[in-house]
Amino acid sequence: MIKLICQLVLGIVTSGTLFAQDESFNTLFIAEKKWMVLPVKNGAPKKRVDIWLDGQLVRYIDIELAEDSADWYSYLDISQWRGRELDLRVNKMSRSAKTFKPVQQSDEDVNAGELYKEKYRGQFHFSPKRGWMNDPNGLVYYNGEYHLFFQHNPYGTEWGNMHWGHAVSKDLLHWKELGEALYPKQYGTIFSGSAVVDSNNTSGLGQNGQAPLVLFFTCDRSWTQGMAWSTDGRTFEQPDKTVVPRFTMGNRDPKVIWHAPSQKWVMVFWAETEDRRHTIRFYTSPNLKDWTYASSVDGGTGDDRFLFECPELYELPVEGDPNQKKWILTAADGQYTIGQFDGVKFTKEAERLKSVHGRDYYAAQTINNEPKGRRIEIGWWRTKTNIEGMTFNQSQSIPMELKLVKTKDGLRLARFPVKELESLRTKTHDLSTSYTPVELPVNECELRLSISPRKSAKIEISIHGKSIIYDADKQELSCDGVKANVPLVKGKLNLVIFADRIGFEIFTADGLLFMPVNVNLDMNNKKVSIAGGKLHQLLVYELASIWN
Ligand code: FRU
Repeated sequence: MIKLICQLVLGIVTSGTLFAQDESFNTLFIAEKKWMVLPVKNGAPKKRVDIWLDGQLVRYIDIELAEDSADWYSYLDISQWRGRELDLRVNKMSRSAKTFKPVQQSDEDVNAGELYKEKYRGQFHFSPKRGWMNDPNGLVYYNGEYHLFFQHNPYGTEWGNMHWGHAVSKDLLHWKELGEALYPKQYGTIFSGSAVVDSNNTSGLGQNGQAPLVLFFTCDRSWTQGMAWSTDGRTFEQPDKTVVPRFTMGNRDPKVIWHAPSQKWVMVFWAETEDRRHTIRFYTSPNLKDWTYASSVDGGTGDDRFLFECPELYELPVEGDPNQKKWILTAADGQYTIGQFDGVKFTKEAERLKSVHGRDYYAAQTINNEPKGRRIEIGWWRTKTNIEGMTFNQSQSIPMELKLVKTKDGLRLARFPVKELESLRTKTHDLSTSYTPVELPVNECELRLSISPRKSAKIEISIHGKSIIYDADKQELSCDGVKANVPLVKGKLNLVIFADRIGFEIFTADGLLFMPVNVNLDMNNKKVSIAGGKLHQLLVYELASIWN
């Protein structure tokens, strides 16, 4: 250590490379602990950090490396190389760097601040321990656990360095983050995708009777679709070979499902054609390794982002008529089409329908192999979490069950918060017999409300300093600039509101309207109040944190 510090002062590192002002440098070191510690200064110019092993590049990172003072520390897992010599190369490191002392190692990954109690940490929404997160990936139930993989930048609070982070849960609510499942390779960083359980071992990747968990993703440099697998749900084989060649630049986000009637695997991914049309391409495979192009479905063109990025394909029974089943094809912004799918071709029966009426809910995915046969969706919720020194950024939505319901306009998707969420309820306030205005102090909560507006009056529901307003004249629900048309049902407005410190998820119109609003609430203001209208029911449940 002393030697290293001396070398830094002198500007000379172990390998003998001159370490001058803003020059690349490298050093050899022996991996001794679980983590290599990399200090981060939010907003600092990005450096490229490479790790080489036996002449091969094994990790590459773009990082806002702290030179003087660090905002937080990121951790690179080097445990698999314990006892081996690694070559660390950093480009453009300044000579006077005080904080970055190559090489710091640690067996603990210690957070700045109290983990999961941070001011903007959603208390019942998943967010990563550290770094940036976007799309949920590879949602699947495997070996008694739900797996949530996610687009992750472990080294910064903004997008970049896409890895697949990994968390598991037994109940869809309490997630344990395990570390990175997939790392950037020569073929590129790891973009979005999905996971399947190969129960019949069609791939031959199973071991000792254990079905493999197989992951599919896009490699962003080659724009090919890659494959990785695991037989323990913890460690992953990630070969250099990919399984579907590039169709066009940027094509991405494979979602794979098992299609029982044709006994084939089906992969859908998004591609933009030369005339800027968004298309979803369908491929089939008997064994998850050999894929054949089958067909494609057109969406919007250019800025019309119908069927753009992160496609989803699943079958749902019609509520109340279980023998009637339909296929749903949707993509990142939640617009969807309903139709028939025979394992090769999707035939639209309903054109573009809108299923989300809120803000910044994106790239949602449903869980493959769900044990109760439910269709459960989780979406990336672009919460405003990168403020006041938070060392993590972005959230996932609460899990929601999807149903296909008959309406006067035809079949429509409806969303319902999963039943498991009821287990978070701690205290119940039943104020159904009260008259408005009511007022009570709570923390994070769920509100179930049925109310009739008085003639021409507005209803205002205020939670931790933010208001949700219903304008009876316009039949409009609004919150923080987000607006949706919500007709009354038999003269009543029925709302289910989940209020975490990072915003509201509002459900109304019997699940047909889902309005997420990403707005930070003031948790010092404990007040929930309702004014205007005649109350029929008001239940307020205080919710426990999922991090306890
Ligand atoms: C959607 C998306 C995907 C892509 C990923 C990259 O949010 O752009 O299309 O795979 O994010 O992080």
